[in-house]
Amino acid sequence: MIYNLAIIGGGPGGHVAAERAAHKGLNVILFEQAALGGTCLNEGCIPTKALLHSAKLYHYAKIATKYGIEVEQVNFKYDKIISRKNKIIRKLNAGIRSAMTKHNVQVINGRAVIEQANDNQVTISCNDQIYAAENVIVATGSVTSIPPIPGVDTTPYITSKEALEIKDIPQSIAIIGGGVIGMEFASLFNTFGTKVTVIEMAPEILPPFDSEIATMLREHYKKEGVTFHLQAKVTSIAPGEVNFETAEGKSSVETQQILLCVGRKPAISNIGLENVNIERFRNGIAVDKFMRTSHPRIYAIGDVTAFSMLAHTASREGEVAVNNILGINDEMSYKAIPSVVYTYPEVAGVGKTEQELIANNVEYNVYKLPMTFSGRFVVENEGGNGLCKILTNNENRVIGAHLIGNPCSEIITTITAAIEANWTLDQFKKVVFPHPSVSEIIKEAINA
Ligand code: NAI
Repeated sequence: MIYNLAIIGGGPGGHVAAERAAHKGLNVILFEQAALGGTCLNEGCIPTKALLHSAKLYHYAKIATKYGIEVEQVNFKYDKIISRKNKIIRKLNAGIRSAMTKHNVQVINGRAVIEQANDNQVTISCNDQIYAAENVIVATGSVTSIPPIPGVDTTPYITSKEALEIKDIPQSIAIIGGGVIGMEFASLFNTFGTKVTVIEMAPEILPPFDSEIATMLREHYKKEGVTFHLQAKVTSIAPGEVNFETAEGKSSVETQQILLCVGRKPAISNIGLENVNIERFRNGIAVDKFMRTSHPRIYAIGDVTAFSMLAHTASREGEVAVNNILGINDEMSYKAIPSVVYTYPEVAGVGKTEQELIANNVEYNVYKLPMTFSGRFVVENEGGNGLCKILTNNENRVIGAHLIGNPCSEIITTITAAIEANWTLDQFKKVVFPHPSVSEIIKEAINA
């Protein structure tokens, strides 16, 4: 039997593509070597958000008195927090499995390897069987990067995967890398009382984000007790110790736990790319705007393309690939991909940053306002501050937005739509926002 479509990898790229393709009548086979849902569901987005939500509730309980609520004793049971997180994963995993069954997607549990490809079909081996498909989507995701720091082979450390499973909150943790994963774990452990140190090699945490917003987040966590070392080059690690250098000289942190969060790299090993001479780009698979690789029958989506390593990007890329396989012209656009850091306060960004525009000598306008101009924000964030910054180009079209303050993960979507639709500020001003809502800050900022 020849399948219309074979998909390798069942993460948010692969399973969304499978569902869409099968819904449109294609005969689909999906290969997954571990659990459906990929990194996002099993060891990334969802489990971290489950833990962070428990941390948020604990934090709220501790500061409840600010809202007139007296809570006698606030405690947490970390094993219960972990059990709840695992229950959520099982529930969502079952949801994906039932969606695959409902759409008649054949799911094979095993490691798939592309063996051959010609102009008409691609063959794949898995669990000692050979499968043939007219088209293939590679959606194998990414793996944690382990930097070649001296001592890394002989020192116990954890990555984000193990950090999700630890049984007891450590007394101290040194986090190498102040990116998205590093800051989410810094927030989690800080809330539960761990002494957190973040060691970041860039001049500011969250390097690709708006630097003013990143500075505000760092200052917030500094007040909460997190220690930051910026422009710090880690020179070695040893059991219970991280050594690094900054402009001030050599330094060292003693720590119970070391957490490595220095990025992820595309999972391209041993999947048969060499058998079909697929071109590479930035350690990942090169694709065009239709998500097609250098072989016309093979597509690639998600982290494996090393471009925008986000679950929601992967899902949209999957739709683009499937549409093109179906003969529907669809192109991937990256101009409005929102990014969120689920710290507390949340950070969200979409489109261009000021740093990027300045570096490219592009003229732009900034509309910005503290979040406290939103009544709802003030009501729900006692003593909190935040910022909403919206960028437009010289035609006054919306090209970027950067926010800090809860719940900016939700309100960023409105600005994402405006950027994708290429709206001018005048078009955006006609949108009616519900009152009272934190999203009104957008209207306030663009009218300010
Ligand atoms: P990242 O690329 O976001 O951050 C890595 C950080 O480590 C950077 O700030 C970098 O400057 C720093 N770094 C690199 N080498 C270093 C060294 N030797 N010493 C000190 N600092 C060093 O990578 P991260 O946080 O591991 O996340 C991986 C991927 O997963 C990212 O693409 C991210 O977008 C995605 N992700 C997204 C989430 C979300 O959307 N909320 C949550 C978690 C991950």
